[in-house]
Amino acid sequence: MRLLVSQHNIGKWAAYYVYKKIREFKPTKSKPFVLGLPTGSTPLDMYKELIKFNQQKLLSFKHVITFNMDEYVSLPDDHPKSYHYYMFNNFFNHIDIDHKNVNILNGNATYLDYECKVFEEKIAGFGGMELIIGGIGEDGHIAFNEPGSSLNSVTRVKTLNYSTILASSRLFGDKVEDTPTLALTMGIKTILDANEVLIMAKGLNKSQAVAHAIEGSVSSMCPVTALQMHRKAVMLCDEYAAFELKLKTIRYFENLKDEYYNLEQEVATKGFTN
Ligand code: GLP
Repeated sequence: MRLLVSQHNIGKWAAYYVYKKIREFKPTKSKPFVLGLPTGSTPLDMYKELIKFNQQKLLSFKHVITFNMDEYVSLPDDHPKSYHYYMFNNFFNHIDIDHKNVNILNGNATYLDYECKVFEEKIAGFGGMELIIGGIGEDGHIAFNEPGSSLNSVTRVKTLNYSTILASSRLFGDKVEDTPTLALTMGIKTILDANEVLIMAKGLNKSQAVAHAIEGSVSSMCPVTALQMHRKAVMLCDEYAAFELKLKTIRYFENLKDEYYNLEQEVATKGFTN
C-alpha cells in the first residue's frame, strides 16, 4: 500500500487520477472501464471536478460502467440522504454516462441477499473493477465494512455499528432514531479484487484510521488495513489526515518517487488540467 500526502485539494487530485486512468485505458463498448465509486462528503470535490472534465469534453463516461460501494437498507431511492439520490444529484445527472451502466445496490429489494449476490456476479461478469475509489470511516471502515468484518467478505447485508450510525446521524437531522441501521455493502474481498484501489482521507478526524491503515497490523477490527495486502492501493490524504503518521513513514513514501509522486509533481508544476 502506498501513501500520498498531497499539498493539493485531494478531491481534484483524485479526479485528475480518474481522468488519466480512463483516458489511458481507452474504453470502448466492448471494453468498458469498470469503476467503483463512493459517497460521503470527502469525494464531493472529485465529482465536481469530474463533471467539469466531462462538460469540457476532456473525458467521456460513455463506456464507463460504475458500481457504487454501498447503500442504506429501506431508504427510498428518492430520499435526499439515500446514496442513489447522492450519486444522481452530485454526479450521474451531470455527465454523459448511460444510466443503464450505473449500478447501485437496491436497499429496498425484496430479497436483499439475492440483490447482493447478483451485484457481486455482475462485477465479476465485467471481469472485475479496474479502479475503485473509496473513503474511510473514523474507525477504519471502508464502504460499510465495519470493524470485525471478514477480510474475505463479499457484497452483503451489514448491521451498522453505533459509531457509524452516530456519524451518519448528521445527515438525518442529528436524530439517531431516524438513521438507518442496516446497509448493503461491497465486501472487503470485493474491493480487494479491483485492479487498483484509491482511498481518500481528509481531516483530522480520519488521522487515527490513516495511521492504523498504513502503520498498523492487518486486522478485521480496522478493515482498511486489508488494503496492505493489495497489489496496487494508495491512501491519498490531506495534511490533517496524515497528522498521526510518523515522520519517517511520510518520508519513506515521499522518497519512493512512484507514479503518485510523479502526479503530485505534475500537478504542482502544471496545475490541474481544467
Ligand atoms: C460512510 C460511507 C463510507 C464513507 C464514510 C466516510 O460510512 N459508507 O463509504 O467512506 O461514510 O464519509 P465522509 O467522507 O463523509 O467522512
